[in-house]
Amino acid sequence: MSHVFMQRFSTRRTLAIISRRCYSTKDSTTHFGYKEVPIVEKENLVKGVFSSVASSYDVMNDAMSFGIHRLWKDDFVSTLDPGNDIVGVKTKCIDVAGGTGDIALRILDWAREKHADRDLSVDVVDINPDMLEEGRRRFRQTITTNILPGRQCTRPGEGQFPSNTYDLYTIAFGIRNCTSVPDVLSEAYRVLKPGGTFACLEFSRVSNPLLAQAYDTYSFSIIPLLGSIIASDRASYQYLVESIRRFPPQEEFSNMIKAAGFQISRKGGWRDLWGGIACVHTGVKV
Ligand SMILES: C[S@@+](CC[C@H](N)C(=O)[O-])C[C@H]1O[C@@H](n2cnc3c(N)ncnc32)[C@H](O)[C@@H]1O
Repeated sequence: MSHVFMQRFSTRRTLAIISRRCYSTKDSTTHFGYKEVPIVEKENLVKGVFSSVASSYDVMNDAMSFGIHRLWKDDFVSTLDPGNDIVGVKTKCIDVAGGTGDIALRILDWAREKHADRDLSVDVVDINPDMLEEGRRRFRQTITTNILPGRQCTRPGEGQFPSNTYDLYTIAFGIRNCTSVPDVLSEAYRVLKPGGTFACLEFSRVSNPLLAQAYDTYSFSIIPLLGSIIASDRASYQYLVESIRRFPPQEEFSNMIKAAGFQISRKGGWRDLWGGIACVHTGVKV
């Protein structure tokens, strides 16, 4: 029994060491798209990107993906099935890097429409006040939720969010922009209740070579062009495309989730969408 425990413990520790070596913030630089930048500067550079695109963010998402991002987000939320919990228990969710609120709105709508659950709450967290302001406008027209401007849930030890609080932690197209992926994962683990679910929707790696080639061509030639036409900002969309390529592939990210302490399914805990253009990773806090 203790042998099994030790083996599990040491595997987890090895994975943690590997993932911290690859994605540690201890080195003095990190990537910002294809550029190497001082670690301390990355967050401000990312803030600059999203402040610049905030007012056209939703329109650009539709234009770049022909609306497909909506299908992925619908699929993400419907599979999580929020609100389907024990009667009388209020489900608490946190949507980190929540931006303009696409995921939070879907969670609230799903819980209300599918389970008649009006008690479920979503805390929307993002470092960018301009993105949150866009979201706030949308929330005003619908139901209220807690929008937590400027509050962090991606750096360890800041103590803004109590431990063992949430039933569901979501992060969609956000984690690749964060300075330290292992730090985000360990904060996610800390704030979730035991038994709570971590769920991440992110761009990933396309396995089919033909699709990968077509997707690369589209990403690098069309998306920055659309960015300059619709958002008058080519550079930010160039960064977004590059940041996707810098994010670890499915198996590597899955190992990082495991290293943070989450239990994942035997199949690796991920599900590709559209051949791996996007991917859903889930884990459970044990
Ligand atoms: C591509 S948007 C995704 C927004 C939304 N989740 C969606 O799916 O439409 C990425 C978001 O991550 C936020 N972000 C980047 N770094 C962050 C961090 N360290 N902590 C919290 N949010 C962050 C950005 O401000 C931006 O709103």
